[in-house]
Amino acid sequence: MTRLLGISGSLRRQSFNTMLVHEAARLFDPETFEFADIRFPLYDGDLEDAEGIPPEVQKVADQIAVADAVIISCPEYNKNLSGVMKNALDWISRTEGNPWLDKPVAIMSATAGRAGGERSQNSLRLCMQPFRPLILQGPEVLVGGAQNHFDDDRRLSTESYVTFLQSLMDDLKTRT
Ligand SMILES: Cc1cc2nc3c(=O)[nH]c(=O)nc-3n(C[C@H](O)[C@H](O)[C@H](O)COP(=O)(O)O)c2cc1C
Repeated sequence: MTRLLGISGSLRRQSFNTMLVHEAARLFDPETFEFADIRFPLYDGDLEDAEGIPPEVQKVADQIAVADAVIISCPEYNKNLSGVMKNALDWISRTEGNPWLDKPVAIMSATAGRAGGERSQNSLRLCMQPFRPLILQGPEVLVGGAQNHFDDDRRLSTESYVTFLQSLMDDLKTRT
């Protein structure tokens, strides 16, 4: 049984990155798919000392640990990954063990800008380096001008992006 976990670095309801995660999951076609909720509090050492790991953080750490593969789509904010994504990585790093170790991970991004989030992906790779996941190197899925590439049903409508995404998902599947 293949378990896939999806994470979006954007919390907004109409997020293109969330749409992309769901499209990736559809193309991967796993036995089970879960979408992680990373609406965590801001990391605060005092909060951790007083209350320990928040249950919503532990839940996502556990979801990562049992997943066969993880897909992450992260927006680009000012040429970097989103604070929401970095905050999630920092909280998860405070949990017992390292759920990311050797985990097959595919990274992608959707942005309003034309470049599609290349710098966001690079910074996300760097931020995940301490956890030693198995991050695929490509094909790079960078959906620039995302507003033009999803239809009203939140489906990726541009054939070339679907082809790249399918190829990335096929590769990810071979790692599980
Ligand atoms: C604070 C902020 C900074 C942004 N910086 C960039 C940027 O550097 N490059 C880019 O292509 N788009 C940038 N954008 C536009 C995002 O690509 C766009 O809002 C995108 O839809 C966000 O992803 P989402 O749809 O998943 O929420 C920025 C948006 C915000 C709110």
